[in-house]
Amino acid sequence: MSIRELKYTYEEFSDFEKLDPHISELIQKAREAAEKAYAPFSEFKVGAAVELANGVILSANNQENAAYPSGMCAERSVLYYANGNYPDIPVCKMVLVAFEGMEITKNPVYPCGACRQVMMETQDRFKKAIEVWMVGRDRIHMVKSVDPLLPLKFTW
Ligand code: THU
Repeated sequence: MSIRELKYTYEEFSDFEKLDPHISELIQKAREAAEKAYAPFSEFKVGAAVELANGVILSANNQENAAYPSGMCAERSVLYYANGNYPDIPVCKMVLVAFEGMEITKNPVYPCGACRQVMMETQDRFKKAIEVWMVGRDRIHMVKSVDPLLPLKFTW
């Protein structure tokens, strides 16, 4: 038996004013998407924005359903749309924002396990790392690829 270690890093930003205006624009898009989410059951509204390699910015949000499992997360909503409509264009950046009531969550929102798997599939499919920005009121966390979000990923 041997012990193997995985080591990943993420970046933390607390001064929102120093963010690249380009990232601020994506955050704004994710925020606007979150505001339009359909989340009458959880009241937890999530928005996701992606930037494609051709500069196109897309956004979507979570869509809930009275039959709970039929609902869909914001991340998968936007990625399925992006990959369905731009099947040859890599996704470069992804930004996530969530609202608790009227306010953006204090801490960054992280993608659920199923969304991480789909994010990884998108990254692998285009062989292009996706930078993921997870936004909270007090701090933003960023990973330069999906890898730190899904160590020991499923693949075949
Ligand atoms: N949700 C997302 O949109 N993204 C995630 O990564 C986790 C959860 C949504 C699903 C559901 O509508 C609500 O948040 C509460 O779980």
